[in-house]
Order: sequence, then C-alpha cells, then structure tokens
Amino acid sequence: MKDFKRILVTAALPYANGPVHIGHMAGVYIPADIYVRYQRAQKRDIIFVGGSDEHGVPITIRAMKEGVSPQEIVDKYHAIIKESFEQMGISFDIYSRTSNKVHHETAAAFFKKMYDDGLFEEKETEQYYDEKAKVFLADRYITGTCPICGNPNAFGDQCERCGSSLSPEQLINPRSTLSDAVPVKKKTKHWYFPLQDYEAWLKQWLLEGHKEWKNNVYGQCKSWLDNGLQSRAMTRDSNWGIKVPLPDAEGKVLYVWFDAPIGYISASKELTAHWADYWCKEDTRLIHFIGKDNIVFHCIIFPAMLRAHGNFVLPDNVPANEFLNIEGDKVSTSRNWAVWINEYVKDFPGCEDVLRYVLCSNMPETKDNDFTWKDFQEKNNSELVAIFGNFVNRIFVLMNKLCNDKVPKFHNDLTDDTDKGIIDDIKNAKVKVEQAIEGFHFRDALFEVIDLARKGNKYLQEKEPWKKASSSPNPEESQKLIDNCIHLCLQLTANLAILVNPFLPHTAKKMCHMMKVEDRMLDWENAGSLKLLSYGYNLREPELLFRKIEDDEIKAQVEKLRANAKVQAENVKAEESKAEEITHKDEILYDDFAKLELRAGTIISCEKVEKADKLLKFVVDLGFEKRTIVSGIAQHYKPEEMPGKQVIVVANLAPRKLRGIESKGMILTAEDKNGKLFLLKPENNVAPGSSVS
Ligand code: MF3
Ligand code: ZN
Repeated sequence: MKDFKRILVTAALPYANGPVHIGHMAGVYIPADIYVRYQRAQKRDIIFVGGSDEHGVPITIRAMKEGVSPQEIVDKYHAIIKESFEQMGISFDIYSRTSNKVHHETAAAFFKKMYDDGLFEEKETEQYYDEKAKVFLADRYITGTCPICGNPNAFGDQCERCGSSLSPEQLINPRSTLSDAVPVKKKTKHWYFPLQDYEAWLKQWLLEGHKEWKNNVYGQCKSWLDNGLQSRAMTRDSNWGIKVPLPDAEGKVLYVWFDAPIGYISASKELTAHWADYWCKEDTRLIHFIGKDNIVFHCIIFPAMLRAHGNFVLPDNVPANEFLNIEGDKVSTSRNWAVWINEYVKDFPGCEDVLRYVLCSNMPETKDNDFTWKDFQEKNNSELVAIFGNFVNRIFVLMNKLCNDKVPKFHNDLTDDTDKGIIDDIKNAKVKVEQAIEGFHFRDALFEVIDLARKGNKYLQEKEPWKKASSSPNPEESQKLIDNCIHLCLQLTANLAILVNPFLPHTAKKMCHMMKVEDRMLDWENAGSLKLLSYGYNLREPELLFRKIEDDEIKAQVEKLRANAKVQAENVKAEESKAEEITHKDEILYDDFAKLELRAGTIISCEKVEKADKLLKFVVDLGFEKRTIVSGIAQHYKPEEMPGKQVIVVANLAPRKLRGIESKGMILTAEDKNGKLFLLKPENNVAPGSSVS
C-alpha cells in the first residue's frame, strides 16, 4: 500500500427530509465512526466530515405537501439528525449542511471552473412542466393512465399495477401529482456532464487500480462501466438548490448529486484552514463511507468530477455496505418500517453503546442483513452483560475482596502456562483487531474484542482465585498466585477498554473512570501492554456497564414497529381515497365531447396476448368494420367468456401498437374501488355499430 500521511474520512450526507434510522447507522455512520476513532487512537492525522444534504426534489415535495418552505423542512430535520449523531457518539469533526454559504460558494465555483474549461455539453430538451406549481416534473411526479393495462394511477417511470416501465410521454391523461394540473411540454436547457469521456480513464483507475475494493462495490462499478456511460444532466429546473452560476440560467440549480458530494469539501473548508492539505495533497488517503445505493455517485460520477475539475485527490477506498432489514422486511420510510434513532435514544436512555454493538455485529458488510429486536435483546443479555460486563464487574469485586482493593503485584517467577496463554491472548487481540479494522472488517474486529473478554472469563474460571484464598497450606504463596491472577485480569480489563473504545466509546469512558485513568490510556499504542495499571493503585467502585434488557421492553418495541406501520398505511389509504374523491378533470365544452366516436360493438373473438399477463386481444364487430383491439383486462375476464358480449368502444382513438399488435380503439370499463374492472355494455343488445352518446 501507498504511504499516506493523512486520512480524510467522509460519511454520506443524509437527506434532511426525515430523521435517521438504524439502517443509516449500520450502513454508514457506525463503520465510519469506528474507523475514525481507531485512527485517532493511532494518533494518525485524520479528519471526519459530514453534514446534511439539504437540496433535491424530495425536500421540495415534502415542503409543498406540508405547506411550509423547504428551508423550514431542512432546519427541522438537520437539527434532529445532528442531535441523533451526537447522542450515538458519531464523532464528526464537523457536521455541516449544504444550505450554508460556504457550500453554495464552493459548489458554484466548482461548476463554474468546469464550465469555463468547456467540460459541459449544453442541451435543450422538452420536459413536462406543471404550470400551477411552476415546476418541471421529475418522472415520479407525473401520473396518468397506463397505456398497457389502463391503470389510472401509473407513474411517469413505471406502472405499479402491470409493472411496465414507462416514460412520462406514454401516459394517457398525464397529471401532476403536485397540483393535479395537466402538465405541458416545455423546452428547457441544461448542462450535461459527458461521463463517456471519462470511461477509459475510470476503467484504468478503478477496475485496474482498485481491485482491492470490496466485491459488492467493485462489482457494481464494473457493471456500470461495462454497460457504457452516458452524458448526465448536472442541472435542474428548480428554485431550491444552488443557483447555476451563469448568466441566462434563471430558475436553474445544480443537480443535487452534483452539489452534495462537494459538500464534503465545503465542510472541510469550514473545519480547518488546512483543508487543502486533505483534499489536494497526493499523500492523503480519502475514504468514503456510504450505503450501496450511493455507489455509482461516489465511485464513478464524483471521481470523474474531481478528475475533470483537477487538483483533487481521488478516493482510495469506498467501503460501501449493503442494507439492513428489520424483522425480515426492508426498511421503508414511506411505510414507516424503521427504528428511528431519535426514538431509540428516548426509549433506551444510556443504551447507545448497545445499539452500536448490535448494529456493528450485524453490519451488512457483504450482503443485506436483518435486525430483530429479539436478537438485540439476546446480544445485549448474553454478550454485553454476560460476557463483557460480567468479566469487568467480577474482577473489580475480586480485587476488592482478595487484594485489599488495590492493584496487586505481579510475581514473574510464578507465571504458569495458563498465565502465559492469557498474556498471549491480550497481545494477539491487539493485532487481530487492528488488522480487521484496517481492512474494514468491523464485525470481525468486534468479535475479537468480545472474544478477549470471553477468554478472560475462562481464565478466571480456571484459576479460581476465590478458592485459593480459603484452603491453602501455604498462604503466602497462594496470595501471590491470587495476586498474579487478579493483576493479569486487571491488565486485561484495561486492554479491553482500549480495544472496545472505537466501537463502544461510552463504555470505554466509563471504564477509564472506574480505573481512575485518563482517557489517554486509550491510545492504541497501549494495547497489548501488561503495564497499564500499576501495583498499589486503587481503583473506583465498579459501575454497571450494561443492564439486562427485559422481555416486555422488546415486546413493546415490536408492537411499536407494527403499530407505526399500521398508522402509516391507514394514513396513506385515507390520503389516496381523498385524492380519488377530488380527482376531477377540467370542464370541457360539448364540442370536445362530440369529438369522441363512441360505438357499441359485439365481441367476435378474444384471446390472450402471449407473454403479457394483463392483455387480451379482441376482434369486435362494429357493423361497418371488424376491429382488432387490445385491452388490459386479462385479470378480470376469461377470453372464452367474451365472444357474443356487447361492449362500448372509442372508435376513433388513434391506433397504438401493444406487444406488436396494432390496437385500433379502446373498450370502455368501469373500475371499482378495489381496482376491479367491469365492461360497459348497452342495457339491451343493439345492432353492432350503434352510436353511443
Ligand atoms: N443524501 C444522499 C442519500 O441519502 C447521500 C448524499 S452523499 C453525498 O442517499 F456525497 F452526495 F453527499
Ligand atoms: Zn399498467
């Protein structure tokens, strides 16, 4: 590995449109914090920067829905998120935000330099625009009728009923989800970053140069690069964000994924006048901690931006994690299936380290992983309480009882093999933990720490110093043996504090207090030492490091999780039915209606369309002509029951191709509130071709 002089650690900037949950913690912030605390203990030159991501469409949408300004939204959630991080001991050197001035200036200057260097393509395209809300509509914010299955609530990018992927142009009767207005096409100019120009370089730098990256990260990057890169718009039409620093760019802002990663640079600027040492000197090691949904932005787009701009170091590693599920289900903000940190700290005061422990030992390092409350309880009670806490407590009590409440002397000449074993264990633990953390294997590292405590318990069990006290023929010698045992266990305890500090900092601090040592004992160079507590020193009373977590606490959490999700589902349902009630179309004139040619027809034949679950192909007799019509009602009617039925057809609808079949017209249906479709038909049979009005 290259010789690095300083380390720059970033952790993804969370969107300030909601609180953070355990998925964020396990995926990004806990691994980042462990790494940073370890490096600080190693006395390495390191800074740890983060902040809130306060731009982008989701924030403006949320603001519009709540009827407040975007600034109010981000102010609220920035404060909540920042506090959660502090409570969980995520030790950012700075936790900033992208709405502040330094960031606006930094990001605008970054864009301007790339612009001046001629690195953007300027393109004009047509996009849907909501004239009521006065915004261009991202795909998700347009709904309309699916041309494939007739679902009236399909999105601009996808129909969730039939699963077809769509573009906004394909929707019939498109509407804006923001105002319900009919969107119009409007020309708009944007600046595109031609990523394809960096493809060859990226392949070299990343695929050749960083084979050591985690498989999940490397694999995703490789598949992006193998599929070929394309120009991406780096600006958006919006009034929330960083203004495009060009004349003639009214109403344009930087794309949120352009500005947010530059937030790392801005935060460093705010933190230290020496920020450029970290960002521009080749002997800096830049590490991005992120979740898997951020991989392409941090491994491909941002590095290409840094390269294009010039003068910046590139990430040396991006140890992205997979996702953490909860009780077997994906975390979902919209379904409120989450354990929120601001609620956890209220429900379990003083148990911040327990959550850090459980999330680290379940960290989704190589694949998605599951958090369950039962496992949380189990890990607390049988590992933290029964192994770690128990060992530490026992040794304080024994010292009090058997050694006059002072650190006893160590008698070298009386060392036996068991003692030598535990001495080796202490020394090896340091090396193992160190290697695992350096390699981003945080679960393994934590396991080694607990394993040392486990070995401590075993050692005590073998030595049984409490027995030696009572039944010895040679009291002086047996006291010496007791002293040795207690002495080693105390050194082991001090070592545990050092090793556990990156993972459970609150616990390590408590242990220092109990041992009456200063925090600098936690310096990593002290790990492995057997001279951390000296002979004759008297320690404080032991404090309880971890408490047992009871069944009813766990039950309450599981119930809360389900109750939250239920409330949310009911809210969504209520909102949907409200939306249904009020979805009215604009008034039309009779002339508009008269443009429709509606006719009654008789179905002659009907068959399934191959490889399309929803589609039926009809031939309908319209009297003057036999028509082929494809309709998305296969889930509601069987083909064999159709012939002979009468239907109402929009006869002058422009033909469309569906699965290669030309469909000329549309068969009318009514939809009930469960989405079931029913054919419309004349009350009595009429001659095919009869007009309908
Ligand atoms: N806000 C983004 C998310 O939550 C992460 C932004 S990371 C940054 O997915 F690098 F862009 F800042
Ligand atoms: Zn559909």
